[in-house]
Amino acid sequence: MRFGRKLIHLESVDSTNNYVANLVKDHGLASGTVIMADDQFDGKGQREADWLSTAGMNLTLSIYLDDVNLSVDRQFRITQLIALGIHEFLTTQGIDSSIKWPNDILVNGLKIGGVLIENHIVGKQIKSTIIGIGLNVNQTEFDGLLATSMLSETGKTYLLSEFYFSFIHTMNDVWERLCNSSTLDEVYLNSLYRMNQKARYSDVLGEFIGEICGISSDGRLRIKKDNGISEYSLKEVKFY
Ligand code: BTN
Repeated sequence: MRFGRKLIHLESVDSTNNYVANLVKDHGLASGTVIMADDQFDGKGQREADWLSTAGMNLTLSIYLDDVNLSVDRQFRITQLIALGIHEFLTTQGIDSSIKWPNDILVNGLKIGGVLIENHIVGKQIKSTIIGIGLNVNQTEFDGLLATSMLSETGKTYLLSEFYFSFIHTMNDVWERLCNSSTLDEVYLNSLYRMNQKARYSDVLGEFIGEICGISSDGRLRIKKDNGISEYSLKEVKFY
């Protein structure tokens, strides 16, 4: 079991990712430890955004790993494994989700979960990583954001303390099954939002209609356009 042998459950914290970073700096932390918070009041999202979560309603947790043994050019595998873990967990709960590149989890185009991975890189190796996961569970009001939750999708209210164990179980299962598998890219692409579909995007050159056609070996998004295939990193392309 890679994640969750040790669980630290906090009532309230600014950000579970920050809490892990401080613990590691001050005392060290066993690999696989999960830090979970009932109330995360200053959560961090991707692209310097905030991650908003009503206290007691959702899953907000971070996992610390210092034994991933991956070279920097393969860091996208962590993103894939975590996104697929959340996707598969939702499948076990009867919710059909897709992964919006690189690791947003969507249900019918609405965001249900997000991941913030902060790697500590030494030379060309990932020395350790903090994997922050937010999953909307019982919250139903999102202040105009294009978001949804498990309760909104199924009509069921979830008991977070019980639910946590099956979540971690699925995350472990997916990691063990796929981390050394040659099928990881294929499995990821099978769940990718808008794969092989025409849609609107923009890049430095402006808006265009394109079709996601794959991922490069370092995790860049490949989009087929009229004049060929372009590859994008996170800040270089916008979805509409
Ligand atoms: C995103 O989609 O923008 C990423 C959201 C990540 C949110 C999680 S909640 C637990 C962990 N702690 C944080 O401060 N952020 C991540």
